[in-house]
Amino acid sequence: MAVGVYNSGARANTAAQHQSPGPGATNLQTTDSINEMYRDAWSRFATGVTVITTLEPGGNVHGMTASSVASVSLDPPLVLVVIGENRESHALVESTGRFGLSILDDGQTDIAKHFATPPEVRCEIDPQHFTALSDTPVIANAMAIMDCRVIAAHQAGDHTVFIGEVESIAIGAGKPLVWFQRQFGGFSR
Ligand SMILES: Cc1cc2nc3c(=O)[nH]c(=O)nc-3n(C[C@H](O)[C@H](O)[C@H](O)COP(=O)(O)O)c2cc1C
Repeated sequence: MAVGVYNSGARANTAAQHQSPGPGATNLQTTDSINEMYRDAWSRFATGVTVITTLEPGGNVHGMTASSVASVSLDPPLVLVVIGENRESHALVESTGRFGLSILDDGQTDIAKHFATPPEVRCEIDPQHFTALSDTPVIANAMAIMDCRVIAAHQAGDHTVFIGEVESIAIGAGKPLVWFQRQFGGFSR
């Protein structure tokens, strides 16, 4: 079943104190191959799909498709979103201190693709796809929408984990949009 083995130097050294590294425990991979293996491993993790929304200084809505999101705490209600430091959304979440989180349904693949496209090559989007929760923009007709205030930010590698306190929630209906092995799909049971 195994399609590749990667051991970082740090782990290999620790392991070497206890046993000789096996043939798979050498550290010969290039950064490229490690990145590929990391991406392949996570492509096996099926997730839901969200859009993180913020307001640009001119008042336009900015969105970013995101699957690295999680529920953190119930009391107070906290979520986390993980945003690459090069994303435009990173600077906007940092400067506004707020974001909207919309959990997409399986009829919203086009929206997910739109907001996964680099902003400089995105086409126009119909403003009817947006609505507001409190004053924060979110995606209309999503399965669930939340308005969040950033209470902490932790840099981690080339991403930042933003923790948001959920100040408003609205619940919709539908079936979830799923991201698995680099493709959008649906969920059935
Ligand atoms: C399904 C899916 C999930 C994604 N999840 C994240 C994520 O959690 N964090 C992230 O930084 N980028 C994520 N991306 C990439 C961004 O959506 C993409 O880079 C986007 O163009 C960033 O937009 P921005 O630069 O306008 O913020 C994801 C892409 C896809 C297709």
